[in-house]
Amino acid sequence: MVHLRSLILLLTITLWPFSGLCQFCDSGLGYCNSESALPSKILIKGGTVVNADHQEVADVYVEDGIIVAVRPNIKVADGVRVLDAKGKFVMPGGIDPHTHLAMEFMGTETIDNFFSGQAAALAGGTTMHIDFVIPVNGSLSKGFEAYVEKSKLSCMDYGFHMAITKWDDIVPKEMEIMVNEKGINSFKFFLAYKGSLMISDELLLEGLKKCKSLGALAMVHAENGDAVFEGQRRMIELGITGPEGHALSRPPVLEGEATARAIRLAAFVNTPLYVVHVMSSDAMEEIARAQKSGQKVIGEPVVSGLILDDSVLWDPDFVCHEPSNKSIRAWESTSSSIIYWSSKGTDHCTFNSTQKSLGIDDFRKIPNGVNGLEERMHLVWDTMVESGQISATDYVRLFNIYPRKGAILAGSDADIIIFNPNSTFQISAHSHHSRSDTNVYEGRSGKGKVEVTIAGGRIVWENEELKVVPGSGRYISMPPFNYLYHGINKADANYLTSLKAPVNRI
Ligand code: URP
Ligand code: ZN
Ligand code: ZN
Repeated sequence: MVHLRSLILLLTITLWPFSGLCQFCDSGLGYCNSESALPSKILIKGGTVVNADHQEVADVYVEDGIIVAVRPNIKVADGVRVLDAKGKFVMPGGIDPHTHLAMEFMGTETIDNFFSGQAAALAGGTTMHIDFVIPVNGSLSKGFEAYVEKSKLSCMDYGFHMAITKWDDIVPKEMEIMVNEKGINSFKFFLAYKGSLMISDELLLEGLKKCKSLGALAMVHAENGDAVFEGQRRMIELGITGPEGHALSRPPVLEGEATARAIRLAAFVNTPLYVVHVMSSDAMEEIARAQKSGQKVIGEPVVSGLILDDSVLWDPDFVCHEPSNKSIRAWESTSSSIIYWSSKGTDHCTFNSTQKSLGIDDFRKIPNGVNGLEERMHLVWDTMVESGQISATDYVRLFNIYPRKGAILAGSDADIIIFNPNSTFQISAHSHHSRSDTNVYEGRSGKGKVEVTIAGGRIVWENEELKVVPGSGRYISMPPFNYLYHGINKADANYLTSLKAPVNRI
């Protein structure tokens, strides 16, 4: 039996991509389809094309995975697939800057890998994501190799951030290799998860200095891990073992403290800082204050923080599935520019109900994280554009891969969605494309629907049907020294002048 399976797999691998089968079809996910492997010539007619700076009614012509022209009344020859977009928006595919696919975490591994997570993303109009490489025993190169392996399943474009979990003579040298040779331009430092990913302030300072010298963006998970640990102990002593213990043990003040600390240390080093998954108004206020003072700090809103709150954790019928950190509808609480100008991530880090039940008797063992890759574009549109808080042009702003991604311009990658603002979406674990058996947004519905997704010039989502090819996604290298680095040198020079030292004393 085993031999027969191996033979079939070998034949499949040998024949792929020439057969209708593909290398990974035994994944059990019904949307593998090598028919759509070749990018086609596509004309999108008459839609409202939305870019970050303006919108206009125009046609969009795509060839070989690239947008060739954007203007009214484009004429094409026979054999070009024509999509009618009248009355609809034609927008750049979304970019999710914060995901965890195939991540080993808290004694298990996220249920979505680079195939299922990306397929779900494409069904929701996201065409690129940036995932976090976790080092293997502190080794960046081993971590990178592991993620190269995991991402071979990819069916859409992706990039990598990298976590730094220890410090020795090798780590800074490996950071250089990651930036200069491997296309990674951002490193994440965990101030939480005591005993596993958490690092000290001393390491954070070393990391910030190294990031600055490489032009890499330092990112922080800002919660005080020692205090969270203490908060957890306090809850257990009080006999609180259910999922509400998760929220109770990490009040917003602990996120505010760590955010303030990271911001001040970044100011001390004079390097830009990106605070991931901002969930509390305490943290947002710190970021807003730093931005006002001119410091280069970005706060990343995540969809769970926009949509969810903690109340469900107290429901006696509710077991285990906690929001990603401690959502308190952070986006409502401020008019800070961070919600308008930052990219909106998901922190898609999904565990199914069996995995969540690892913590059935102890909330500390519930693997942390929720879904969102497929739901993000719909939920952000419905919550923020439909309500008038932001415009369609605000909606398409992105991380920093412009203009290759995130724009409908001649020369940009053909990652495009056709969005019908008059249609509606519904969310359910029965119809979503993640491998999880639950959906933290179960039962939600709203206005606006991604009707077509084009990724790398291929129509991968149309008529509620996915046609995706494992192995067709490309790794996107990201260069260092993004726009946040403008002016850093001048500020350093001004600082040195202001010291008026060393003083030459006789
Ligand atoms: O806890 C969550 N949401 N994800 C795990 C990794 C992270 O980003 O902290
Ligand atoms: Zn984090
Ligand atoms: Zn995360």
